[in-house]
Amino acid sequence: MNENLTTKLPRHKAKSSPELDDTPPGRFSDGDRAGLYKAIYERRDVRSEFLAKTVPEDVLARVLLAAHHAPSVGFMQPWDFLVIRSSPVREQIYDAFVSANEASAEQFEGERQSLYRSLKLEGILDAPLNICVTCDRNRAGPVVLGRTVAPEMDLYSTVCAVQNLWLAARTEGLGVGWVSIIQRQALHDILGIPQNIVPVAYLCLGYTSRFYRSPELAEKGWRQRLPLDSLVRFDGWDSTQESTHLSDSEETLLERIRQRQKHFDFF
Ligand SMILES: Cc1cc2nc3c(=O)[nH]c(=O)nc-3n(C[C@H](O)[C@H](O)[C@H](O)COP(=O)(O)O)c2cc1C
Repeated sequence: MNENLTTKLPRHKAKSSPELDDTPPGRFSDGDRAGLYKAIYERRDVRSEFLAKTVPEDVLARVLLAAHHAPSVGFMQPWDFLVIRSSPVREQIYDAFVSANEASAEQFEGERQSLYRSLKLEGILDAPLNICVTCDRNRAGPVVLGRTVAPEMDLYSTVCAVQNLWLAARTEGLGVGWVSIIQRQALHDILGIPQNIVPVAYLCLGYTSRFYRSPELAEKGWRQRLPLDSLVRFDGWDSTQESTHLSDSEETLLERIRQRQKHFDFF
């Protein structure tokens, strides 16, 4: 293997005891790990707290480059990033949001609809910058490695790019809000996106006055985070979590998850 093309990993020392030296090769330093977990747990969907402050080009370049380093099926890299600053364009997108949101509100009933209507679900005009992330489904030709039996993998790849962008933005102190309540055709029409290109994500991005500690939808009583231990299954969908059926390691895993989520102790 060409050494120049690989990340240098520390050589494994001869093991004296597993406790003294069980650091997996390639593991990040504690500080680096803490930084990554911090970005993951402190990332939020931002809607209301955007500041007018300009996002410098070098910061935006870092965030877009992080998005571009996402995994993609067959290394297809099916994404494009439409950077939108124009107020008239954002106003058209906002109008498209308002009509889609009105129709969406009607789908909820009673108190749920009142709560829905009280939520602010976009920051299109408040954020100085919007980014539409698209997927070119033909980028790598008709047959793509890894996509032969699951054609939707290019869309999933594009979502991976969005997540990279979201996390990188958080480390820069930038908030990102994903607005999905816009008819896809409106995005095609307003942004001139060809019909064979799929708009995957419409994002609002900018510096923010604060980040919510927990998801805003949880804080406002819309929906709470589910307990992870109830979502982990073993060796198939029908595995039961009754303790009699769990192996020691399965039980230990669930217990560790419960402890961590109770104390918000992720590191
Ligand atoms: C695919 C996708 C679409 C979303 N669409 C919207 C949206 O239209 N409006 C909105 O306010 N939030 C939207 N969100 C944000 C979610 O509401 C948010 O991620 C969730 O409530 C958890 O909060 P957090 O991101 O702050 O952890 C979307 C998120 C995803 C992943």
